[in-house]
Amino acid sequence: MSDPKDAATPSAPAPSGHFSGRFSEPVSELVRRFTASVTFDKRLAEYDIEGSLAHAAMLTKVGVISADDLKEIGRGMQQIRAEMADGRFAWDVAREDVHMNIEARLIELIGDAGKRLHTGRSRNDQVATDIRLWLRAEIDNLVVGLRALQRSLVDVADKHAETIMPGFTHLQVAQPVTFGHHLMAYVEMLHRDEMRLLDVRKRVNQLPLGAAALAGTTFPIDRQHVADTLGFEGICGNSLDAVSDRDFAIEFVGAAALIMTHLSRFSEELIIWMSQSVGFVDLPDRFCYSSSIMPQKKNPDVPELIRGKTGRVNGHLVALLTLMKGQPLAYNKDNQEDKEPLFDTVDTVRDSLTIMADLAANIIVKPERMRQAVAQGFATATDLADYLVKRGLPFREAHEVVARAVRHASERGIGLEGLSLAELRAFCHSPTLIGDDVAAVLTPEGSVAARNHLGGTAPAQVRHAVAAARARLAS
Ligand code: ARG
Repeated sequence: MSDPKDAATPSAPAPSGHFSGRFSEPVSELVRRFTASVTFDKRLAEYDIEGSLAHAAMLTKVGVISADDLKEIGRGMQQIRAEMADGRFAWDVAREDVHMNIEARLIELIGDAGKRLHTGRSRNDQVATDIRLWLRAEIDNLVVGLRALQRSLVDVADKHAETIMPGFTHLQVAQPVTFGHHLMAYVEMLHRDEMRLLDVRKRVNQLPLGAAALAGTTFPIDRQHVADTLGFEGICGNSLDAVSDRDFAIEFVGAAALIMTHLSRFSEELIIWMSQSVGFVDLPDRFCYSSSIMPQKKNPDVPELIRGKTGRVNGHLVALLTLMKGQPLAYNKDNQEDKEPLFDTVDTVRDSLTIMADLAANIIVKPERMRQAVAQGFATATDLADYLVKRGLPFREAHEVVARAVRHASERGIGLEGLSLAELRAFCHSPTLIGDDVAAVLTPEGSVAARNHLGGTAPAQVRHAVAAARARLAS
């Protein structure tokens, strides 16, 4: 076997993108810009360095590069980190991407040892590793954000475990619920989002490095060593798959789209609730903007934007699915297009969660308006029907009796609780069916208290759900 160090040392100087010894003419300025990714993938720099250091340590361990080379590489990378930290690092579009920029600078700084770093790897497994390291860290940040928002919602739900509001179906008043119960519905959604992200994380957290360009490498690499150094919980089992598939990124954006969908639904509710004709809540001024022409306006711009930004994350999901679908194995340059949708997804979800956690904690709740709205909608009609059923009437007949009572009350412009016992009895074939205990059933408080089972809207159940969520969200 020839000396691997010789094989690792290219005859040309530093790598410089397209214009290598292979070509007789450079690309045009436009093509250079078109193909370069450094303007956006420099965001991966720290992970690229981390990956390179782990790779170099492994190469030393298996005897492909010397301990002195490793030391030099470590020194050079420290210098590069320092240059980046204070903005001195000279990013160069001619060096195409983050990988070539760092490698070229390393070679400038330390010479031959820098030229040996790329032994036994390719940018194809390098970039896949960088993205996975980056995404793993971002998933952890988003989980923190999801939990913070859940905590905000749980706190408000606790305060409003007994606050009555109308529950809606078809946006028509349906049955009374508690505002706490309504908010806890979002805690359930966000909890599933959290679980989904943690599940995606397992498939993100697999090491592609070692796949090299596509087929693996002739060097005696130790992938487990690299995986352990970088904290990967597994190793991609097929080199072709490792460098080419981005399903982990697609899954992530799918999970992110669901987070945004949930935030968007909540935003939509806030917008409706804040409208003058509903008036269930108000939002602190710091989340609202006025109009350039109508001086009285206070618009819920922040929830509207979160609702709007859901569209771009959905778009990114479709972009990544489309990016992948036509690619033959293994790596294709198409994959360079994975980064901007991913970056923007993370930024959008992170900011939306952070803002929403603050906003949710500070909603100004207007219980009296909620209470009025319940009174307007015959919200306890089902309770009356249930009452009759418990007294022996078949449900479909009870439904009809109550429908007639609602129509009558509606014509008189009053609620069901406004009907006298005698009036109520007049709707039944058997008047003794209704006793004076019906009054309690017709109040919204009685209605919610009666739904006292796991997952129901009774204040006791809301407190139970709040306690369970708090235990889960502690720490
Ligand atoms: N900038 C490239 C990307 O983001 C890195 C991998 C380039 N590999 C290649 N064979 N051209 O995908």
